[in-house]
Amino acid sequence: MRTPIIAGNWKMFKTAAEANAFFAEVKGKAEVEGVESVICGPFTTLPALTEAAKGTAIAIGAQNVHFADNGAYTGEISGGMLQELGVSYVIIGHSERRAYFAETDEIVNQKVHAAFRHELKPIVCVGEQLEEREAGKTKDICTTQTTAAFAGLSAEQAAQVVIAYEPIWAIGTGKSSTAADAEDVIAAIREVVAGLYDQATADAVRIQYGGSVKPANIAEYMSQPNIDGALVGGASLEPASYIALIEGA
Ligand code: G3P
Repeated sequence: MRTPIIAGNWKMFKTAAEANAFFAEVKGKAEVEGVESVICGPFTTLPALTEAAKGTAIAIGAQNVHFADNGAYTGEISGGMLQELGVSYVIIGHSERRAYFAETDEIVNQKVHAAFRHELKPIVCVGEQLEEREAGKTKDICTTQTTAAFAGLSAEQAAQVVIAYEPIWAIGTGKSSTAADAEDVIAAIREVVAGLYDQATADAVRIQYGGSVKPANIAEYMSQPNIDGALVGGASLEPASYIALIEGA
């Protein structure tokens, strides 16, 4: 069956020195058999994190990757650069990047392909805004975003994608989706993957919930049959909280 995956998305928090201090505290603790533990730090923390993670069961992820492998893209970071560091996951299409950096579904798809060219496993974020939810469009939005993100992927690649369902209104607000609502949407996303590929591929894809997940509610999400983990922002920043999330999963 699917291995649960908890990923901390640090967003634009922590220097390399702070990342090192964090890692020293979670090492050996945020490593529980049967749960995959991933820390997605800012680019400048990745050399320290990948070095510190050697010989541990904690995987390191980036929060973005450029769609091209190289070129005149001032300020950008390519998949090859991440691969060289030993990064194994990359978050793609987070709603903050869609909102503040104009990432379209097409760009998200290009980045997913860039990730696979460099042996990075994509964590693709999908999710609706509050107005879209209120208008009953949640599943339509997730279907559109998921379908676009997977365009051109083989079934073998698709099975390795992690999808993070993050309702935008639940991010950093303390207003989490109920476990039952998250399960309902995530089950629908799995059906979308089954429609694009087949049931075996859909059964292999891991789908996380994200949005105000904390140690107190992680177990409730994890008890849902289709929820395979969480993408966690705020509650992943403190070592004790991160360890509690991994244990709770
Ligand atoms: O990517 C994780 C995220 O957007 C959720 O943030 O702080 O609500 O856990 P948070």
